Amino acid sequence: MDMPFKIFRYDPGVDAAPHYQEYTVQTKPEERILDCLNRIKWEQDGTLSYRLSCGHGVCGSDGMKINGRCALACQKLVKDYAGTEVVLEPLPHFPVLKDLVVDMDLFLERIQLIRPHLLTASAAPERERLQSPADHKKLDAVIRCILCACCTAACPVMSENPNYLGPATLVWAFRFLFDSRDDQFAERLKQIDFSDGVWACVNYFECTRVCPKEIPVTKSINLIKREIEKHR
Ligand code: SF4
Ligand code: FES
Repeated sequence: MDMPFKIFRYDPGVDAAPHYQEYTVQTKPEERILDCLNRIKWEQDGTLSYRLSCGHGVCGSDGMKINGRCALACQKLVKDYAGTEVVLEPLPHFPVLKDLVVDMDLFLERIQLIRPHLLTASAAPERERLQSPADHKKLDAVIRCILCACCTAACPVMSENPNYLGPATLVWAFRFLFDSRDDQFAERLKQIDFSDGVWACVNYFECTRVCPKEIPVTKSINLIKREIEKHR
């Protein structure tokens, strides 16, 4: 089948303004949107830029806007868009480096801000720090995060308030706040307890709707808020 694509093109060093370019790809219903992008790049237009790595929803590289919704191009199938033109755009709220490639620096800096690693004063055990299955279960959902940034890009708050830490940062905050082996709970809570932190979330739920790993993002943010209220 022939599938029409309209793709955002912009090279800030060369182009005065962004534009859209149209392509038609010979494809099959069970192929992925990423396969189509590869075919465009390899067979029609080598100048097209986008990110990819694993091709299987693991690395988080190919987040983009597909027909208006943030998603991973390797997780969306051609048959999901049959009969429509597929419009591909870069993740919103991120500076465009080229075409579908965005600058992730600020996003990753914000993740670093919450210190995304275990903080504990206790002496290192001989082997790994163990955790009970019950304690691990509390983190089951959030440890699936692959830092694709779809949630942050889709969040309507980000367009009104670019200083908002963003849903992905808060998912990572949750992941270490509720880790039974971490002993910086109070400090971690304090670090996100401000107006551009956890309180900027007003429950649009868009992050939860787009998360390719089905993480209950909004619910996790609300659990953090509840914990802050409890400790006031
Ligand atoms: Fe991507 Fe979901 Fe992690 Fe957000 S929470 S960065 S959408 S995997
Ligand atoms: Fe790795 Fe899509 S290419 S998640």
